[in-house]
Amino acid sequence: MYSLSIQGGVPLEGEVTISGAKNAVLPVLAATLLTREPCTVRRVPNLSDVAFMGKILSSLGARVRVHGDSMTVQAAKTSGFGDYELVRKMRGSICILGPLLGRQREARVSLPGGCVIGSRPIDLHLKGLRALGAQIAIDGGYICARAPRLRGAEVFLGGRAGPTVLGTANVMMAAVLAEGVTIIEGAACEPEVVDLGHFLTAMGARIGGIGSPTITVTGVPELHGAEHEVIPDRIEAATFAVAAAATRGTVTLRGARPDHLSAVLDKLQEAGARVDRAGGALTVGAGRRLRPLDVTTQPYAGFPTDAQAQMMVLMTQAPGISIITERIFESRFMHVSELARLGADITIEGPSAVVKGGKPLSGAPVMASDLRASAALVIAGLVARGETRVKRIYHLDRGYEQLDRKLRQLGARVQRLQE
Ligand code: EPZ
Repeated sequence: MYSLSIQGGVPLEGEVTISGAKNAVLPVLAATLLTREPCTVRRVPNLSDVAFMGKILSSLGARVRVHGDSMTVQAAKTSGFGDYELVRKMRGSICILGPLLGRQREARVSLPGGCVIGSRPIDLHLKGLRALGAQIAIDGGYICARAPRLRGAEVFLGGRAGPTVLGTANVMMAAVLAEGVTIIEGAACEPEVVDLGHFLTAMGARIGGIGSPTITVTGVPELHGAEHEVIPDRIEAATFAVAAAATRGTVTLRGARPDHLSAVLDKLQEAGARVDRAGGALTVGAGRRLRPLDVTTQPYAGFPTDAQAQMMVLMTQAPGISIITERIFESRFMHVSELARLGADITIEGPSAVVKGGKPLSGAPVMASDLRASAALVIAGLVARGETRVKRIYHLDRGYEQLDRKLRQLGARVQRLQE
């Protein structure tokens, strides 16, 4: 097990290169199952979740080769079912369900575990796949799905918290090889879903309305191989942007897509940070003083739930009362108790966290609990006086490529230590 030792109080200064998006590359890699031809995916981030997906694809009979930041996958034939233990451990692997149904008309995938941020149901995934004609049963911890024929259908995929990102991905990937036209209403509009739609189109799929709440898929008999460069990770970019403002530094986010970050940049400016887009680069820095905020997480293009914990740390530095309301997941405030160890004054009122900001943080040992909460603890450590030790940083390595190295390049005093 590793931990990070952070000596805080140093403003981040310089440039950082944003890696490929974890939440785009996972469904894109799953989509390679839909053709027997080779597909090459570029700007693949070196993350444990990506390595997991590679193992899952290999366990399904695909040939997986990694060369630099590219992966070439050829599922000349797919055999059977996802490795139970592998799929159970990584929720994102649920997105092999749709392509396996599309390609081999049957799938047996372990039910994804819940996690610390919520129960993570898949009822909408199953609703959409059943609409296409799949017979699905839950048996012994597995989702057992069969679809002798997949036929296009019209289905509404919105849930109590809005659209489902991976649910939209799964239904889209099953629909591309179905007979006839599928209309997905209430589809997710996240950039990662758009990126998947572009990759499927490059493979020969016929998809309209990508990025809108209504996606139309016209089934085709088969798909061919394709090459694709994954979009930059908007949540990694948001994490560094918040860290720049919180440490009162100035950081240029090389390769970031400002158009994927509108809500985050808008809130950072409202909080008093400087956002500069001159010359095609995106630079975020501290302003004169920080101001408190009201933030509510929403489906895209609203403020992303995956940047909620990070924003909360910035709000601990803004004198006054900030309210952060989490509308996507039911328990995504695990970081609050750990931030309190650093001196943050935050109380939870139902779906909202009330942050009394303006007090300095002081370093302490803290425990990571999930991917984005871990990122928040790192930002807090960068801000706090003295040393902060963040334990269980395997959570971080799931979704941030070499975060400690990138932070050191920005002047942070961060060391990765073996526990
Ligand atoms: C994706 O998860 C992301 N993960 C999450 O990022 C992200 O937080 C989430 O989308 C929302 O943007 C990947 O892409 C691998 P959802 P996903 O289905 O698709 C409810 C990170 O930190 N729901 O959009 O699993 C669900 O409970 C991770 O990178 C149902 O009710 O999320 C939640 O309240 C965390 N029934 C809401 O919808 C369903 O069948 C949104 O979930 C599916 C979801």
